[in-house]
Amino acid sequence: MIKLIKSTFYKEEETKKRLIEFIKKANWLSFGPQCEKFEKEFAKYQGRKHCVMVNSGSSANLALIQALINSGKLKSGNNVGFSAVTWSTNAMPLIQLGLNPIPVDVELDTLNVSSRTLIKTIGKTEIKALFLTNLLGFCDDIDKIVKLCKALNILLIEDNCESLGTVYKGKKLGNYGYASTFSFYVGHHMSTVEGGAICTDDEDFAAMLRIVRAHGWDRNLSLQHQNHLRNKFKVNSTFYSRYTFYDLGYNLRPTEIQGYLGQIQLGHINEIIKLRNQNFLKMANAIYKLSDKYLPIKYNHMDFHSNFAFPVVCRSQKIRDDLVAKCAGKIELRPIVGGDMTNQPFFKKHIRNYGELLKESNARRIHEQGLYFGNNPELTQKELEIIIKIFTSP
Ligand SMILES: Cc1ncc(COP(=O)(O)O)c(C=O)c1O
Repeated sequence: MIKLIKSTFYKEEETKKRLIEFIKKANWLSFGPQCEKFEKEFAKYQGRKHCVMVNSGSSANLALIQALINSGKLKSGNNVGFSAVTWSTNAMPLIQLGLNPIPVDVELDTLNVSSRTLIKTIGKTEIKALFLTNLLGFCDDIDKIVKLCKALNILLIEDNCESLGTVYKGKKLGNYGYASTFSFYVGHHMSTVEGGAICTDDEDFAAMLRIVRAHGWDRNLSLQHQNHLRNKFKVNSTFYSRYTFYDLGYNLRPTEIQGYLGQIQLGHINEIIKLRNQNFLKMANAIYKLSDKYLPIKYNHMDFHSNFAFPVVCRSQKIRDDLVAKCAGKIELRPIVGGDMTNQPFFKKHIRNYGELLKESNARRIHEQGLYFGNNPELTQKELEIIIKIFTSP
């Protein structure tokens, strides 16, 4: 059986050995210097000024939205666009934090929101921000989306939990928006078992993210940010300063174990994404050209495509269901990410006019006719051949 997730870590044995040694020697395992070291290294890799590590990609999304509210960039009741095909915990924090989620349809051939689908949405509904998901390592014309958002004063933020390492028009995904989120869940590009991060170039916003990450207090902020807050709120003793809570927060901190694992796996990231890219190209060249069975998916518009799964959108639900039966016990399959979010029970329950939002959408076709399987960096030649054979045989 070719599983969705083949291993917990890239170079699993070596990573586990190093982890055991680290734990044996460590005298501090909750948030500390290993996480901070990882944050610096990840910000450098991504090419952004600041990285705030948290305990999952979902926490990164929650912290990002809360920090935008805390800093006054979003207000309760604001309309926020989001990609109709995404993961549940991309849309959920919008609902949980009193915003109004507006689904934006995606393109069938890139699985992503484009400037065209965005224009259609904003023609009907004004939005204050767009929480764009870069789905499965793909993007559409995100450069045009940026221009559109600038012109219309829409705050663009990216959920880049599925696209670490993709480069479009010379720029990494995750660097197009004001801030972007990442996931280090075991099935994603690099694994800290569970883990995530938010990146931004705005120092004050990074400080707010740190407040949100841990209880609303100012520990782990720079001295300058601590002094600013303590002066503003007249907190002038260490006795109280460690227990003063400045704004709304949670406890979303990662542990030193995740910080340490992050450093190890980041050391392998270029190799991981290169291997996955090679697998992807081999499979795409063989599978996507079967146009009688599958809808075409574009990938040549990106400079470098980095994903952890291989999506297929079939021409009909029957073709998809036949493939699911054919792969049983051989290749583990699943729907494309979370499918059409507006078709999920939580969305129908909490958003009353959901039925009007996306009728006969591409998102719904992807939900009903799509599937994906894992693209692990350690897939063998034999496994690649099995996948290609099953997906290309009549
Ligand atoms: C687009 C997207 N956003 C957020 C998440 C949440 O990440 P995590 O599983 O680390 O909480 C996922 C998870 O698969 C995802 O695919």
